[in-house]
Amino acid sequence: MTDRKIPVTRSSMPPFEEYVEEIRGLWDSRWLSNRGALHRRFEEQLERYLGTPHVSLFANGHLALEAVIQAAGLTGEVITTPFTHISTSHAIVRNGLEPVFCDILESDLTIDPGKIEALITEKTSAIVATHVYGYLCHVDDIERIAKKHGLVVIYDGAHAFGETLDGVGVGNFGDAVMFSTHATKVFHTIEGGIVTYRDPSAFPSLDEIVNFGFTGNDEIGYIGTNARMNEFEAAMGLCNLKYLEREIASRRMASELYAQRLSGVPGIRLLRPQEKVTYNYAYHPVIFDGFKYDREQVLKRLADRDIFARRYFYPAVDRAECYNGRYAHYETPVAQYHADHVLTLPLYAGMAPEDVERVCDAILR
Ligand SMILES: Cc1ncc(COP(=O)(O)O)c(C=O)c1O
Repeated sequence: MTDRKIPVTRSSMPPFEEYVEEIRGLWDSRWLSNRGALHRRFEEQLERYLGTPHVSLFANGHLALEAVIQAAGLTGEVITTPFTHISTSHAIVRNGLEPVFCDILESDLTIDPGKIEALITEKTSAIVATHVYGYLCHVDDIERIAKKHGLVVIYDGAHAFGETLDGVGVGNFGDAVMFSTHATKVFHTIEGGIVTYRDPSAFPSLDEIVNFGFTGNDEIGYIGTNARMNEFEAAMGLCNLKYLEREIASRRMASELYAQRLSGVPGIRLLRPQEKVTYNYAYHPVIFDGFKYDREQVLKRLADRDIFARRYFYPAVDRAECYNGRYAHYETPVAQYHADHVLTLPLYAGMAPEDVERVCDAILR
């Protein structure tokens, strides 16, 4: 008998009856999108859960990032990194801005604050950096640099929903933070995105951009888009929020088992947890750094055993075909190295310990 498939991830589902109960009212109200009752209730719950004063909801994380960059009114160049989802730099480029690629830190794969200032020119307007796998950017150093040079800071927190730093919700750092609530994320709304921010005056058009830029019934003040979250998605969020702590605890168990089996193995590097951060255990990245098999061989060994890991992020964003030759070249050796050496292992709530063992056996034996 062959073993079951182990997927790279698996969407969490709330109890079916609870979801049905949540959407039942829609058959009476017939209000399915455009800031319905569930959307508004979900926003309020998120403000409480994330501990942030303002939350705006979107159809997905990518459009949320595009919208907040547009609403910030950025110009010229934006400093970002090549070790992130293509969405981060696409959101910059699709706003007519130029990405400037900064290298990352080996310790947590986030933007290297020590390399930012050398990239700042008179055209720089912002830093858009990613909390990679839920490892947080060095927010204090970044804030200091941003203040000194008058830059906006927007975090791509697609991986960092619900995390805290020293007890403070991660949505409070920088001028704004985007969280993706895609079906594969720790917390999801099927498709969805969230932007948190403290000062609405910094993003005056955000809630209009989401709806084509309408500022009144017949007034269109901004060149917006359609990035609305619908009521079925908000209902999924309301249901999933109730189970989030349990989901995170379950992922944590699997993640700790991986760490036990894989730490100390020659040629395998694991990222060390950052101090004062409570994680959501979104991913379990492993760096194959002189291991007896290289990353591609490990990926194949796993796939041959019906286990699906992911090269994430690969290729490095600046190596994507669509960016080829379009922007200035920046040396980012740490990002390039990790794009070629990292795998994220299967991880999801309810992952059986035997499945974690099977993944580890397939790597190690
Ligand atoms: C770092 C990062 N940014 C942005 C996105 C885009 O989010 P979404 O898929 O919700 O559009 C993702 C998606 O996985 C991501 O990993």
